[in-house]
Amino acid sequence: MEKNNRGKFASKLGVILASAGSAVGLGNIWRFPTEAGENGGAAFILIYICCIILFGLPVMIAEFMIGRNTNADASTAFKKLAPGKIQWHWIGPLGVVAGMMIFSFYSVVAGWTLNYTVQAGLNRFNHMAGNGTENVFGNYFSNFIADPIWPTIYLTAFILLTHYVVAKGIEKGIERFSKIMMPTLFILLLVLAGFALTTQGAAEGLSFLFKPDFSKINSDVILSAMGQAFFSLSIGLGCLCTYASYFRPNVNLTKTAISVAGIDTFVAIVSGLIIFPAVFSVPGMEPSEGPSLVFVALPNIFRIVFADYPIVAYILPFLFYFLLVLASLTSTISMHELVTAYLHERHHISRQKATYIVTTVCLVFGILCSLSLGSGSVLNIGGMSLFDLFDYLTAKWMLPLGGLFIALFTGWQLERKIIWEELTNKGQLSFYGFKVFMFLMKFVAPVGILLIFLDQLNILSFS
Ligand code: PHE
Repeated sequence: MEKNNRGKFASKLGVILASAGSAVGLGNIWRFPTEAGENGGAAFILIYICCIILFGLPVMIAEFMIGRNTNADASTAFKKLAPGKIQWHWIGPLGVVAGMMIFSFYSVVAGWTLNYTVQAGLNRFNHMAGNGTENVFGNYFSNFIADPIWPTIYLTAFILLTHYVVAKGIEKGIERFSKIMMPTLFILLLVLAGFALTTQGAAEGLSFLFKPDFSKINSDVILSAMGQAFFSLSIGLGCLCTYASYFRPNVNLTKTAISVAGIDTFVAIVSGLIIFPAVFSVPGMEPSEGPSLVFVALPNIFRIVFADYPIVAYILPFLFYFLLVLASLTSTISMHELVTAYLHERHHISRQKATYIVTTVCLVFGILCSLSLGSGSVLNIGGMSLFDLFDYLTAKWMLPLGGLFIALFTGWQLERKIIWEELTNKGQLSFYGFKVFMFLMKFVAPVGILLIFLDQLNILSFS
């Protein structure tokens, strides 16, 4: 009777918001502009959107089906659906490891966001801007992240916050949270985009975002776009599979996936509409600046746009960073839940103990990731900081690899009857694109992902 003991999301809106809460986060507002900026803008975005449609949506629907059908954590799910076939059984643990790695480095950035919320609350940014030097925010940011103490404190606070929500359980914690946070975040993003488009960098920002320069495409750009698609949608590691195990039988999986992918892509593009006009409004700032982009460009935009309205210049940044902390939280909750459910259900560790284990391990790795950005060259591996290495390995390799196997599993192993039942809710819904769906699962997604990997490894050379 394990089924009945598991919590369920109470409403369909709650399902969409919680899944979108997992998907929307720093991946959209911090990582998307960083990657788009480093990979040439519009051409990257075009490939990114193709990856969302061809790989992202099918894999998300597959994760939903697998999770809801088995009512189990992401690892047990594959065992239940393909008993005895061990080749599929490691998809779960691979995702669990990826989830812990992402949780570790992601919390570092979430910690920065928490610090920015506090600084904005104390009105520090307005005071900094007051001394007139252009790069005050840039200097502030690089000094802050290299500091061994404060980022660690904020990171710890953030991880404990995630721990608290996960420990409270599914409905009460996650669902209630997402219902308030998501709509507020959308409205604020739209307002900020509106303001950003009035700055002098708006035209240049828009052309960077929407006028593709195809000569910039190479295998790195393609791999980055694919990785960003998986990362941003929270797929390839079993997070949404785990969430779907808390869905009720009447949830329309396809519709939910389309809504989540739509919301997620929309938020990423709107973030681009805020960041790139901001970047081009600041003399000397380049879109390829990397992870600092959001933390330097945004305070500048607040300063430029609201110079004559000190109250607005105080309230908006505070609200923005605060909502960003919450958006990050709804994402880290899903990573934490993935690993907690795995330890609890697969290895029969009590839920409470599992929660503590995940929090402690990720806290240690999170601190190491954070320290790797300071002077500690000990924490650099192969020329990359631990932070960058975790980001690189998970987003560009582990998640797409997980996605590749989930697609193969669904296309070639899963019983057609189960797929049909999940897509139609046992015949209650009509589903017209079954053949297209199966074609995407069997061929398009696996072959596409594989070709991108081979291209990156120089085994094939398209670009
Ligand atoms: N999709 C989340 C974001 O965009 C990050 C994430 C990745 C969450 C993987 C869960 C799993 O911020």
